[in-house]
Amino acid sequence: MPVVYLSHGRHRWRMILSGLVGRDLLAGPSLAWDRPENFLAEVKDLWGVCRPPIDTAYGLDMTTNDTLRVTDSRTGRSYELPIVDGAIRAIDLRQIKTSDDDFGMLSYDPAFQNTASCRSAITFIDGEKGILRYRGYPIDALAGKASFLDVAWLLLRGDMPDKSESASWAHQIAHHTYVHENVKKFIDGFHHDAHPMGILVSTLAALSTFYPEAKAVHDRDCQDQQVVRLIGKMPTLAAFAYRHARGLPYAYPDDELSYAGNFLNMMRKMTEPKYSPDPVLEHAIDVLLTLHADHEQNCSTNAMRGVASSGVDPYLAAAAAAAALYGPLHGGANEQVLNMLREVGSVQNVPGYIKRVKSGELRLMGFGHRVYKNFDPRATIIKGVADEVFEVTGRNPLLDIALELERIALEDDYFVSRKLYPNVDFYSGIIYQAMGFPVAMFPVLFAIGRMPGWLAQWQEGAADSEQKIARPRQIYVGETLRHLDGEDG
Ligand code: CMC
Repeated sequence: MPVVYLSHGRHRWRMILSGLVGRDLLAGPSLAWDRPENFLAEVKDLWGVCRPPIDTAYGLDMTTNDTLRVTDSRTGRSYELPIVDGAIRAIDLRQIKTSDDDFGMLSYDPAFQNTASCRSAITFIDGEKGILRYRGYPIDALAGKASFLDVAWLLLRGDMPDKSESASWAHQIAHHTYVHENVKKFIDGFHHDAHPMGILVSTLAALSTFYPEAKAVHDRDCQDQQVVRLIGKMPTLAAFAYRHARGLPYAYPDDELSYAGNFLNMMRKMTEPKYSPDPVLEHAIDVLLTLHADHEQNCSTNAMRGVASSGVDPYLAAAAAAAALYGPLHGGANEQVLNMLREVGSVQNVPGYIKRVKSGELRLMGFGHRVYKNFDPRATIIKGVADEVFEVTGRNPLLDIALELERIALEDDYFVSRKLYPNVDFYSGIIYQAMGFPVAMFPVLFAIGRMPGWLAQWQEGAADSEQKIARPRQIYVGETLRHLDGEDG
């Protein structure tokens, strides 16, 4: 069945040219053609042209004639659902009804295991092949070869910055690292053993109160201003949370240092007048941040997009994203890996631990991924970084336990058959620990790295004319109408 796309201003309309035009399958807002002949004249011009709408950056396949034929066994009726980019639109299912007052067919997909919530041009993952690309560049071509800030620009703007863009971007970020002095007062109010992720989530949300103008979420200049602030202030909030827990005075940003170097400065500076980061550790942090910078529609990014879809400012949406990241199944896993390695205690205990995992008592933290079913390319790069870091810090004794866990797991049918491999969190924690970061800071480091990805996805969502407030449906399985005792029923 031929499909033609019409583009007008910011709207993109798809028309299915068949006997059903203008009826069930006409997608998009109601069209301005008041008379059928006007409509047909315009379609005739466009027939076969199928050019991409000018306002889209998503590389849509506009030439598809593919459809999915669905036959409803309840009614015997068949439906042709257009297939674009290997997907059908869930809303096209709504026409499948048993009667006029039937609401129409829903798709049921708990945990969004097979549902695309957006079109995105930012990050590409092929989980079977272990491919991760930011804006088309393979992760191994970026990590360690381009700076984290250049990669952030790439994610946000779509291309690598040239020399002058790179310098002015780094300058802008470095000049937005300070936070209002009142932020220190909030942090002071936290208990001495407050988890730094709790502090980070709270202070991110609190930034919303300092920048009320950020509510102009559809103004691109205003968006860009908040992007710079959020990327600039993340390491400051993170380092302040850490220093509060340690009872150390806050160390202010140093705008002469790189992004990673300044973060190390704010974490570690003591009495020396100027802190000089170890270049190997500075480089390692930069690589780790790059590896975490985006990962398409993961749990926290989905939170960022979903919360921001209500029109709330990016500080509050980023606080929600950071909260999602904190969970042990997501960015909190690196913390859990360290706890697990300590619990295992020695290489001799590894087989016993694996047995407990296989019995279902525990999960092997840092293993498995919703998308990667072969290997996680970030984990491969991280192993290389670990070697460089250990040359400076000395070898982390937990590494031997990790290597043994990996060795046994990769040979065991339980893990092989379920396609469970080490993910990014399996080795990152070991590196962070060797660098002297407390375990509770691991998810915070993940959050600093992920901020550009959250922001790029937020901006992309805000510019997408198809996006609306995120509001899934449900399948109600509760009681039908009930009455309180004594009421007529
Ligand atoms: N240890 C032991 N068994 C596991 C593990 C694990 N780490 N992960 C999955 N399984 C088993 C699970 O029990 C299930 O087995 P069965 O089919 O017999 O019931 C099967 O594998 C499929 O698991 P699932 O929970 O349906 O898989 P999922 O895609 O929903 O979950 C995951 C993905 C990452 C949440 C999960 O693998 C996990 O919990 N891993 C440990 C936590 C972790 O390392 N998270 C960090 C992910 S990478 C960083 C990030 O981007 O967030």
